[in-house]
Amino acid sequence: MHMFEPFGLERFFARHEFSARYLLCTSDCESMSIDELLALTGQSSEALDALQRTWLGYTESKGSPLLREKIARFYRGLDPDSILVHSGAEEAILNLYLATVRPGDTVIVNWPCYQSLIEIPKGLGAETLKWKVREHEGRWFFDPDELEQLICGAESSSGRQKVKMLVLNMPHNPTGALMTPGEFNRVVDICRAREILLLVDEVYRMLELGATQRLPAVCEIYENAISLSVLSKAWGLAGLRIGWLATRRKDILDKVAAVKDYNSICASAPSETLACIALDHSDKILARNKAICEANVVHFKHFFERHRELFTWIPARAGSVAFPALLSAGHQHWHDAASLADQLLQETGALILPGALYGQEFGLHFRIGLGRRAVPEGLSVFSRWLEARGEN
Ligand SMILES: Cc1ncc(COP(=O)(O)O)c(C=O)c1O
Repeated sequence: MHMFEPFGLERFFARHEFSARYLLCTSDCESMSIDELLALTGQSSEALDALQRTWLGYTESKGSPLLREKIARFYRGLDPDSILVHSGAEEAILNLYLATVRPGDTVIVNWPCYQSLIEIPKGLGAETLKWKVREHEGRWFFDPDELEQLICGAESSSGRQKVKMLVLNMPHNPTGALMTPGEFNRVVDICRAREILLLVDEVYRMLELGATQRLPAVCEIYENAISLSVLSKAWGLAGLRIGWLATRRKDILDKVAAVKDYNSICASAPSETLACIALDHSDKILARNKAICEANVVHFKHFFERHRELFTWIPARAGSVAFPALLSAGHQHWHDAASLADQLLQETGALILPGALYGQEFGLHFRIGLGRRAVPEGLSVFSRWLEARGEN
């Protein structure tokens, strides 16, 4: 028996990410070479010197003090000791759950979700409940009333303990949903009233599109909350594998650190140096990636207008992904998005991600990615292919 089910989405990318010609569904923003990163520092040779002087021994398990200091500057009221660096967000998710979740605990997770957020607590023997996204008045909506009902239902059923943890990914993968500040505060209030630990996976934060208002990091506004972030998405530096947890619950960070000793132990030294350089130039990097996402939203908008008989979509409010769907009435060739994705990939090399990888009920949906520069090219291939097939 396996502890965790295979990670459908990661297996899908392992198969296709490095062979597909047009990536139309990635969640990371356009990356860059080390040279390009160093070029952002201008004429100064300090960054290159720092990289060349990087000592290739073990690093501090918590993350280098300099890196933690730079990360902490992103969180109002938090100090470097409130940060625990990990090798990517994925390691942080595993370590955090291993440190906090016990068999029989109840964990509520927003749904659909990045699979590890629900699969790991389930594998550890927790009862997992899904807080489902709704399509409501033209937007993706997580209803705080439903959350409250879910919590009350869990707590009133006989023999159950109170809910241990709420896990929210906001901005949301795969829909691109973002709560309003009012909704977000309500969620915090619900958790605070019951002392529920709140993990918010904020890996798509800093990518609020257009005039969308950024939510505070949850660790700034709730003492019993943990923010998760990473350089992979908004910064586009997934290859550094630098992620972190930020929280005022230092007791939890200590427990997670004890688990990390059995996992990566510490982050990669060159990655920590490069991460410091990237964080120092966040303004430029984030502005570049936000501009790519916003331009691609316009390209996708035109695409979906052109093919409105076939697809429906809700534009992302934040983040680098969105979750359109095949209109079941409008198509004759595909019974679900997986068969569309399959045929599209085989005949054109363009990759979209079947929604069923998030759950069977999302079979008509597919994920698109907004963060890559080559999206317009791939989209025109997709569009021409549909037209050549007589689909409009
Ligand atoms: C919501 C969410 N959390 C965590 C991760 C993992 O991030 P990383 O690959 O940087 O570890 C991802 C990656 O797609 C994600 O979408």
